[in-house]
Amino acid sequence: MEYITLNNGVKMPQVGLGTFLIPKQEIERTIITAYDMGYRMFDTAWRYYNEADIARALKNHGVNREDVFITTKLNVDALYFGGYKGGIKYFTNIPRRSIKSAIEESFKNLQTEYIDLFLIHAPFHPFMKMWKALEGFYKEGRIRAIGVSNFLQPHIEALGDISDVVPAVNQFEISPLNVQEGLVKYCHDNGIAVTAQSTFSHYRSNEPRTEIINNPIIAKIAEAHGKSTVQVVLRWMVQRNIIVIPKTWDESKLLENISIFDFSLTQEEMQRISSLDKGVFLNYNSYPSQIGLPKKYRQWEGFDNPNNYPEWYFNRPKWMRKLLGKKVWTDEPQGGKK
Ligand SMILES: NC(=O)c1ccc[n+]([C@@H]2O[C@H](COP(=O)([O-])OP(=O)(O)OC[C@H]3O[C@@H](n4cnc5c(N)ncnc54)[C@H](OP(=O)(O)O)[C@@H]3O)[C@@H](O)[C@H]2O)c1
Repeated sequence: MEYITLNNGVKMPQVGLGTFLIPKQEIERTIITAYDMGYRMFDTAWRYYNEADIARALKNHGVNREDVFITTKLNVDALYFGGYKGGIKYFTNIPRRSIKSAIEESFKNLQTEYIDLFLIHAPFHPFMKMWKALEGFYKEGRIRAIGVSNFLQPHIEALGDISDVVPAVNQFEISPLNVQEGLVKYCHDNGIAVTAQSTFSHYRSNEPRTEIINNPIIAKIAEAHGKSTVQVVLRWMVQRNIIVIPKTWDESKLLENISIFDFSLTQEEMQRISSLDKGVFLNYNSYPSQIGLPKKYRQWEGFDNPNNYPEWYFNRPKWMRKLLGKKVWTDEPQGGKK
């Protein structure tokens, strides 16, 4: 296993297991199988409702706590009642629990004295307060590293106004169809490690993204190395110093996804994969997440480009677009990049 050293010296395995949507009846077996194969990092979240299942699997299997690296995430779902309307998530202002008790709940679910990496799941209000709370746990030594997920540059910069802790990690969507050269470079230049999420799947679904898995350009590179397309894509990310957390509960795919350290891609092959970039988020897009972001950070130039926003944003009523984002464009975005 290769490791990435985070900005506070903590070492994080570069390959881990994503656990979102692994069925309840499969999770315990999957965790044990993965551990026995050499997986040492497990990516969960309060919102995946499987923290307790993962803890139970590791405990029943006799795994020492210090032998595994656990990432979990704090989600606004834990704090307020809400739901989905027209496919869009909404929150009421009716509190479910405090930020501190939501964090404590993950400790309880994971049956652990310490958590290796705790992320804010998405830049949803009140993400600034969530950061202060996580910082408190970090400074007490109960969390080894704190970070963010789905954060764009202005969301990260805003944290700098209230905290001297630079996020150790930003986890967001990266794939050959969304290469994320700019955000990856911004994070790396600022000492923030990057984890790729939802590379091979469609939004909140187990449906595989076949335009990547069956892509003929990647398939040709894979054939040359005697590897699968998924292994080549994982390797392409690992060579960019990105941490990967592919999710599967299939035994042969689990082994495939961790067997990526015995070959290398050439610069030309790396480039050929990067050239598939469409430059847009295909799963979760944080551009409309501007509530709770201090005004000066809402002036960020990336927010001025309508092509960066997801399609649903343009179907929302004007008042909602104003609430969510800085601008309301009268025309549809040009260039087909939405
Ligand atoms: N922070 C966030 O907001 C956020 C959002 C999404 C995900 N995540 C994290 O990132 C992890 C990964 O993302 P994800 O679960 O959305 O998707 P993913 O791991 O990128 O893709 C999962 C899909 O890829 C398929 N797959 C996996 N390995 C394969 C292989 N070797 N060959 C062929 N197909 C393969 C799976 O098929 P099978 O199921 O059939 O094996 C499944 O359809 C999550 O589990 C979660 O931990 C975080």
